[in-house]
Amino acid sequence: MLSIAVAGGKGGVGKTLVAVHLAEHAARKKIRTCLLDADLGLGNVRILLKLPARGDISDVLSGDKRLWQVMATLPSGLRVLPAPSGVLELATVDNDKLGLLLSEIGRMEHLFDLLVLDLGAGIGPAVLELAAPADHVLAVTTTDRTAIADCYAFIKVHQGRAPATLPWVLVNMADSPASAAGVFAQFTQVCDRFLFMKPRWAGSVPRDPNVTVAIREATLLYDLAGEIPAAKALATASEQLLRSIFQESVGNGRRSYAASMLETAGGGVKRRK
Ligand SMILES: Nc1ncnc2c1ncn2[C@@H]1O[C@H](COP(=O)(O)OP(=O)(O)OP(=O)(O)O)[C@@H](O)[C@H]1O
Ligand SMILES: [Mg+2]
Repeated sequence: MLSIAVAGGKGGVGKTLVAVHLAEHAARKKIRTCLLDADLGLGNVRILLKLPARGDISDVLSGDKRLWQVMATLPSGLRVLPAPSGVLELATVDNDKLGLLLSEIGRMEHLFDLLVLDLGAGIGPAVLELAAPADHVLAVTTTDRTAIADCYAFIKVHQGRAPATLPWVLVNMADSPASAAGVFAQFTQVCDRFLFMKPRWAGSVPRDPNVTVAIREATLLYDLAGEIPAAKALATASEQLLRSIFQESVGNGRRSYAASMLETAGGGVKRRK
């Protein structure tokens, strides 16, 4: 199973939008995909996809339910693990709980080709802990200077923990492809100069009023009728990203997300007995 953590530092830049559409694109391509709402205290995936309230990750962590019991399935075959919203305990989850969650996911690893994690905003411990073992990080920014700064901050601290992964960068809500390319060029220069690495281009998604419509109707952009620029861009970016990471993974002897998680957590995360 390959894993991609969708992150970005700043809140509201489109991490969830990108994670959901990337996962759905993969599922429609018959890649066995699981989307984990890893914004543990402020999960939005359930609302966005209008999933039935049949439990969530908090029930798994409290020991009341098993992971497969709270997993929803979309018509595409995409499996979704929802997180609750407004559960303080999960917003401040400790390493033991994260370890429990990851060992549960590890048990189902053989069922999936791809795990997409929708991370929360910020560079708090849970965000970094969940991003560190992922095979790939997709960092989302907008063209706003504050979003660029926060995205760089995320990449910087993530690189400190996972130096081997070259982050992918996606520019969302771009006013034009040229402005997105400009942001990426600027980003690359700064990363090259201060972090001695160049991030990878994952593409751009235009600002599109259809996003608001899709959220209001709790539907995917892919399912809206007509020409939907954001849907087209998300599908193109997802396709290219998936092609690259699956091609690269062939024969490079990856370890599993859960196994890496347990190793990179500095001994703080323990496997469930
Ligand atoms: N391409 C876009 N065009 C127009 N609006 C967008 C676009 N992408 C995101 N938005 C708007 O931005 C809001 C935030 O998007 P989203 O929830 O995906 O961000 P997020 O980074 O996951 O936020 P959080 O940090 O709160 O988890 C959406 O509700 C939507 O209104
Ligand atoms: Mg989000």
